[in-house]
Amino acid sequence: MKNYIQADPWNIIEEGFDPRLNKISESLFSIGNGKMGQRANFEESYSGESLHGSYVAGIYFPDKTRVGWWKNGYPPTFDKVINSTNWIGIDIYIDNELLDLAKCQIKEFKRVLNMKEGYLQRTFIASLESGKNVKVNAIRFCSIADDEIGAIQYSITPVDFDANIRIVSKLDGDIANEDSNYDFKFWNAVSDRSTDNGIFLQTKTLKTEFDLCVGAQTKLKVNNEPAEKLKYIVHHKPKYIAEEFSLDVSKGFEVEIVKIACVESSLNYKADELMASCEKKLVDASKKGFDNLMNEQKEAWAEKWEQSDIQIEGDIKAQQGIRFNIFHLFQTYTGTDSRLNIGPKGFTGEKYAGATYWDTEAYCIPFYLATAPQEVGRNLLVYRYNHLDKAIENAEMLGFINGAALYPMVTMDGTESHNEWEITFEEIHRNGAIAYAIYNYINYTQDWDYLQEYGLEVLIAIARFWAQRVNWSQEREKYVMLGVTGPNEYENNVNNNWYTNYLAVWCIKYSQEAMKYVEENNKSRYDEILDKLNFNAGELAQWKDIEKNMYYPYHDRLKIYLQQDGYLDKEQWLVKDLPASERPLNQKWSWDRILRSNFIKQADVLQGMYFFEDDFDIEDIRRNFDFYEPRTVHESSLSPCIHNILAAKLNDESRAYEFYLRTARLDLDDYNNDTEDGLHITSMAGTWMSIVQGFAGMRIKNNKLYFQPFLPEQWNSFTFHIGFRGDILSIKISKGFMEIVNKSHHDITIAVVDKEYSIPASSSLEINLKV
Ligand code: BGC
Repeated sequence: MKNYIQADPWNIIEEGFDPRLNKISESLFSIGNGKMGQRANFEESYSGESLHGSYVAGIYFPDKTRVGWWKNGYPPTFDKVINSTNWIGIDIYIDNELLDLAKCQIKEFKRVLNMKEGYLQRTFIASLESGKNVKVNAIRFCSIADDEIGAIQYSITPVDFDANIRIVSKLDGDIANEDSNYDFKFWNAVSDRSTDNGIFLQTKTLKTEFDLCVGAQTKLKVNNEPAEKLKYIVHHKPKYIAEEFSLDVSKGFEVEIVKIACVESSLNYKADELMASCEKKLVDASKKGFDNLMNEQKEAWAEKWEQSDIQIEGDIKAQQGIRFNIFHLFQTYTGTDSRLNIGPKGFTGEKYAGATYWDTEAYCIPFYLATAPQEVGRNLLVYRYNHLDKAIENAEMLGFINGAALYPMVTMDGTESHNEWEITFEEIHRNGAIAYAIYNYINYTQDWDYLQEYGLEVLIAIARFWAQRVNWSQEREKYVMLGVTGPNEYENNVNNNWYTNYLAVWCIKYSQEAMKYVEENNKSRYDEILDKLNFNAGELAQWKDIEKNMYYPYHDRLKIYLQQDGYLDKEQWLVKDLPASERPLNQKWSWDRILRSNFIKQADVLQGMYFFEDDFDIEDIRRNFDFYEPRTVHESSLSPCIHNILAAKLNDESRAYEFYLRTARLDLDDYNNDTEDGLHITSMAGTWMSIVQGFAGMRIKNNKLYFQPFLPEQWNSFTFHIGFRGDILSIKISKGFMEIVNKSHHDITIAVVDKEYSIPASSSLEINLKV
């Protein structure tokens, strides 16, 4: 756990430079705009410890799988979002001495991530080895108003000497991934060019053949006047182009370097038109200039915050934590392109390869549904619809037939790209999360068109998979599901994981409800889908049989659902009895010992109780919570939020708060000692869920927003905004009171605990929660 980030409601602030923390800060201060993103690497050269990261969403490379013992069915490649042309580089030479913070004494270093306005700023004074001092103020952002544009304003002042300053503004495409298998480099050169409008570099990925063109225009001013008497050279190397400016600067004069970049790819343009299009866009952006681009950025972020901000009064660290999470979620995904998704580390590191996991459906959907326009959530669903054929192929590869779909556990383009058998072949519950997201989306938005147009096909294909994945047990006279891994990855190849069995049957039931809805409301579309899928009545009969005769492990004496067959045969330990020195288990114990132990990585039975809470009475939930939570080590960042929400439901306010704290500042305080690898983006949505579904108890019930709120005693109040079916509400929970502001143009009815309230258009209502 670290504690070096200063508390502030809107900014992430690091004061003083400690190179040992640099990789952590590079993650924390990352910037992005949904289409591209980068770690907070320095603009100037830095020879110290650093993880370079500059990523473009949707541009990936199928890296050859590295595996010890090949098994049939393994995906041959591990697809990853890759490091792409680094456009931020600006080397600075002072009288031929390279500015490199690893070789300087640094004073007044301050790094700020301004979350309200969406930019990164760094200021410092560096004493070079020659003893000369330079002062630097660098501001940078990836524009969320125009997601192909990024901008840097880098100001440097020789403090105590006249100097010759050489500035090398670079586009460097000769980059690699640290995690590349077999040390491959993923890019080939295509072309580079310099014109009056800037420098341009086009590269192409090997195998996938994505073209990327990056252009940059660099302009200089001295003491706010256009720089004169510049010497100018262009450097070309393979996959590299740079422009060099050299000028003599008097002591105390400020050189301001503005570098505006445009990043475009063949995802959106024809490869042979890319460079021209990039140049045109760069010219337009450069005409606007840094200040106007910055103003657009501030306005775009203001709009995002309007619907998504959460204000917490009385706890500045909690305030900073939740805004940090919301900010990074929007930096990672803006929902404008249904080909893109949310990697568990977003654009902040290489781990998890920028790929899509079940995290999106199980954790991120609720956040985007409530805080962004409806099409943002819809696009996340369409993403999976567009991968349906590949999910069917994936299932066929494993021996399934008749249009059954198994969505991948890890993917960039719909194909499975994970190669640990216990996950790839067994962690099949991800299929259920995809169906659950369709339910969640329709329940929230009432966008039934989605079901007819896309959702139903996905649901049928998923139900078909489950119907083939179960088998009839003669012994039990029930359907069983063998050889699976549940959400708790600390158990592999188990039989009858309760969560997976329950989810499978739920999918089968929900698919039938969905079929019925489409049949009743759009018969011709229904017939069209059934025809396309060759669906026959025999399948329905089989689904109903599974629904009726599925086996669910249950313990009669303890009255709990068993995580899997035989779970209670394990030696039963509680986490409180584990010495601190043995945790986290995944770093301290052998994998064999973890698998044999009863310790649970993350919510498993409880994940099911969270999804389907209305199926269980409160005492059922309490018994299962009280049994499983003490055995759970929460070594996935996705775990505490589910426990927070259930604890809140059980009115256990202090435990709910305890779980909230475990994710709210997970990265800011480097709780798990892994922030340097990148941020836990998908669990950030879980933190949002903890406040909105946990503390405020928000649900959709009877087609209305429902709340069962409480205020953590550490806070004076919290306020959040909810977009719901075209309306926006602001909700403030304070000591004993709840205030709802209806910002829409018509009346809204909501339920709080067991009463309904109507709030007229554009007005507010205060509810006394004590009575
Ligand atoms: C968790 C998975 C999750 C993955 C990516 C793993 O540690 O166990 O549930 O999908 O991380 O976030």
